[in-house]
Amino acid sequence: MILSATPDAIGEAARAIVRGELVGMPTETVYGIAANVFDENAVRATFRLKNRPADNPLIVHLARTQQWSLVATVFSADAERLAAHFWPGPLSLVLPKQASVPTVATGGLDTVAIRVPDHPTARQLILEAGTPLTAPSANSFMSLSPTRAQDIETAIATGLSCILDGGSCLVGIESTVVDMTGAEPILLRPGGVSRLAIERILGRPILTTRGGERRSPGMYDRHYAPVAPIRLVERLGPLDCGISFRAPLNASQARLPNDAIGYAKELYKSLHDLDRLNPREIAVELLPDSDEWEAVRDRILRATSRK
Ligand code: TXA
Ligand code: MG
Repeated sequence: MILSATPDAIGEAARAIVRGELVGMPTETVYGIAANVFDENAVRATFRLKNRPADNPLIVHLARTQQWSLVATVFSADAERLAAHFWPGPLSLVLPKQASVPTVATGGLDTVAIRVPDHPTARQLILEAGTPLTAPSANSFMSLSPTRAQDIETAIATGLSCILDGGSCLVGIESTVVDMTGAEPILLRPGGVSRLAIERILGRPILTTRGGERRSPGMYDRHYAPVAPIRLVERLGPLDCGISFRAPLNASQARLPNDAIGYAKELYKSLHDLDRLNPREIAVELLPDSDEWEAVRDRILRATSRK
């Protein structure tokens, strides 16, 4: 059931969370499936609903930075600098976890990813539920993340007490995930905050995960994919269904902005819309290879992967 995110609806959703139920929650990145992080049964239900492997850790959402100590044990000077600059916002920091955080939530790891979402409805829900909330994207495993309430698949929606409709997500792709547990921060997943912006705040380059022990468990080659296969093309032809930077040549083409931030905001929405046309494939025009496009390129590449 989709509810407009009024104070009453948020109150009702918060009570559902306290009862151990799951709620569809808007954030600035994508919609999430919110649950009480300290309720193991609710967290298990989240994995079941998404059909998600048990070793793929969830991100814990806080109403404000100071709540970090509810779920993590160390907040380094670098973490403080990043939080001061980017929270609320699309940046998740991986930190050593508190013993009270159930390992089902962290995929068995002794670390926890946390962020403060930049959406008033999400923060109000966390405050009223009185607990930090786990919230993976509200899609089933390996499918497209929703950036509008109506893009949440029926199979997911039926497992939720309600979905709070907070409008279209303003960022449109998932948060950037940075591992803060080692001597140097490591970029685990590019996302809504660019690598450059992070490096500017830290005053030095950040490493990138290359597999190995500190890789991020949720980073599968194939991810974020619509039903139709995606193919990269130089330029859309008159009969293609797909996404371009130019005026559409037919009704199954979407023109997206030529700046990375504008493009990210429209990407999942457009893929959901095009997918509903049941095309044979979705063609996507090649993206610029400059740094600002890193996160968008990552999502498109994963969507084209056939693995
Ligand atoms: O923008 C977002 O982050 C959205 C919204 C709803 O907040 N959430 C989201 O969650 O994208 P999810 O579950 O789809 O992606 C979580 C990913 C994991 O797959 C993993 O790559 C990384 O975050 N992650 C979470 N906890 C981690 C940990 N302790 N260590 C390493 N990576 C972690
Ligand atoms: Mg996801």
